[in-house]
Amino acid sequence: MKKKLVIGNWKMYKTAHEAAECVHALAQFPVWLAVPFTALSAAAIAAKKTKIQIGAQNLHEAREGAFTGEISAGMLKEVGASFVLIGHSERRTLFGETDERVHKKVFRALEEGLTPVLCVGETLQERQAGKEASVLQAQLETALKGVDLDRIVVAYEPVWAIGTGQSATAEMAQEAHAVCRALLGKNTPLLYGGSVNIENVEAFVAQPDIDGVLVGGASLDPKIFAQIAMKVLL
Ligand code: PGA
Repeated sequence: MKKKLVIGNWKMYKTAHEAAECVHALAQFPVWLAVPFTALSAAAIAAKKTKIQIGAQNLHEAREGAFTGEISAGMLKEVGASFVLIGHSERRTLFGETDERVHKKVFRALEEGLTPVLCVGETLQERQAGKEASVLQAQLETALKGVDLDRIVVAYEPVWAIGTGQSATAEMAQEAHAVCRALLGKNTPLLYGGSVNIENVEAFVAQPDIDGVLVGGASLDPKIFAQIAMKVLL
């Protein structure tokens, strides 16, 4: 059986000090943590001698340049990141990230040896119009053109389920995952994200095409996140 994956996305929460404390609290679980830029170094140091992977939540697609306020893949790598979230729906909706830009970011991450965790998902409007499959296909096809599918992770995160407490049902998620799976390799880990919690996590990972979860809100408290990790990984 393929190994399951549990990723926490801390968004714009936790100082470097708080992040290090949480990493220590989670030390026995082989989870991946996407932390704020300023917490990367402290989190990576705290994660040494554990199986925890530390990653970032975004990067710039250029190798370097006059891009005030941006962070490059090489910079992330230097401070201990091993993966990076790309195209999270908050980046797409709040910061105008397009599929083309997401594609460039995936390439840059791979070039620097970071594992891209590509996030895709439809909006409520798109689902109500019955367009979820075509939206997912378009997002994946553009973002992954020419990409080695064995070197990436993909997360299906329906936009309407993120931070809303309204998760997709496991069956709905499986249906969307089957659409994504058809375009991905058998070996590409495919995660579900969107209001995952202690109660619903097992139903998601019991689905044939769901290889793990990407957890936002419920990853902030290490006690709760540890219980989620236990249910999926142990
Ligand atoms: P949520 O966030 O678990 O709080 O819905 C998921 C995400 O944004 O990755």
